[in-house]
Amino acid sequence: MGGETSAVTSTVPTITIREAADHAGQVVRLQGWVHHRTDKGRLQFVVVRDGTGILQAVAFEKDLPPAAFAAARELTQESSIRITGTLRADARAPGGYELGIDDLEVVGLAEPEYPIQPKEHGVGFLMEQRHLWIRTPRQAAILRIRATIVRAIRAWLDGHGFVNVDTPILTPAACEGTSTLFGTDYFGTPAFLSQSGQLYNEATIAALGKTYCFGPTFRAEKSKTRRHLTEFWMVEPEMAFATLEDVMEVEEQFVSHIVATVLAEHRDALVDLLERDVTALEAVQPPFPRLSYDEAVARLQDGPFPDFPWGEDFGAPHESYLAEQFDRPVFVYHYPTAAKAFYMEEVAGRPEVCRSVDLLAPEGYGEIIGGGQRTTSTALLERRFAEHGLSRADYEWYLDLRRFGAVPHSGFGLGLERTVAWICGLQHVRETTAFPRMLEKIYP
Ligand code: 4AD
Ligand code: MG
Repeated sequence: MGGETSAVTSTVPTITIREAADHAGQVVRLQGWVHHRTDKGRLQFVVVRDGTGILQAVAFEKDLPPAAFAAARELTQESSIRITGTLRADARAPGGYELGIDDLEVVGLAEPEYPIQPKEHGVGFLMEQRHLWIRTPRQAAILRIRATIVRAIRAWLDGHGFVNVDTPILTPAACEGTSTLFGTDYFGTPAFLSQSGQLYNEATIAALGKTYCFGPTFRAEKSKTRRHLTEFWMVEPEMAFATLEDVMEVEEQFVSHIVATVLAEHRDALVDLLERDVTALEAVQPPFPRLSYDEAVARLQDGPFPDFPWGEDFGAPHESYLAEQFDRPVFVYHYPTAAKAFYMEEVAGRPEVCRSVDLLAPEGYGEIIGGGQRTTSTALLERRFAEHGLSRADYEWYLDLRRFGAVPHSGFGLGLERTVAWICGLQHVRETTAFPRMLEKIYP
């Protein structure tokens, strides 16, 4: 570990780089990691990052105790340091401030061969180094924006009468089809990691009116795509006495609030680090356009997919084509019943379509929300259990919700990672979470 240097007086404030503007002209203490060092002999330029930003610091031989200057000359990338010095406004410095170092303490000298160098690395390599890759400013900015999105989600729901009730992760049965279940052994009984908290939300709304769960969900997705993870976070609001139309109104307000919050708090990072076209995000205002599945299919058939068969679920190319015709997210509602989960309410007089709605994000991002109105019919559910190969016994409690005070009710699930990818303008969901889980990918 680094040698101790002269004592720092306790009157010197320890600040973060984000706070630099408030301390111009003052002597401050800063702690962080060496992002980069340039050796100019008697001058050492040390770019420091501390998790809140990046700052250039300069060690001039004559200003430091000799041992501290010697330590500065040996600094390797990612070494952790504490520095004291005077903050100067400097238009040439990135961020507008520079720290003139008076003293420097090495907290942890990094080994010389840091795996991630400022050159182009392949994504496969970077994913293996994900525990280090997240230190790069772009990756850190994404994680920070994700945290803001989480906060905006909770703030909007908490402020609109939704009560947060989280739902179990270990579950006895499927919600979104049996083909993507992760199974585990629960003391001799088969159990599954939750695909969705929705069925439990349908119980909690009868206690609390409007609820939401927000947590990790799991799907054994066997395909490698840029929008599928095997573990992802989903926020699922559910409302009693609400219809499909109510859900669309909530979703457009909710999503617009999330986007506006990120624009207000992270405009610089979006533009400078993520090279995001923020004008596309500024267009995200209610109301969102609405297309029925029938209209959507007609558009596909009139467009580049003349052979698209009515009844099939949309794939990524279809969603992209539909969404790119609008400047904001678009609702597609009344999907074919056969393409959706067992709990969907039928459209009156047209049982081949159901009261479902997906929200497709523009710019090729596609579905970020799935939801709809849930059936209240016990008879319909019993038929669907048979059709979907589900055991009625596993859902006895769910049928109780229809037996005891059934009401029209609706809700939806917004995928956090897809939302982060869209708002940040990322090519792949793997960068939206600190440690993504994907097909054949569980390290680190
Ligand atoms: O459309 P899904 O499957 O809907 C449900 O699970 C409902 N039970 C939600 C509800 O009504 N309460 O999933 C909802 C969203 C998708 O729109 C997508 O954003 C995300 O969850 N999602 C995934 N995100 C990443 N990787 C995956 N494998 C995902 N599967 C779904
Ligand atoms: Mg869906």
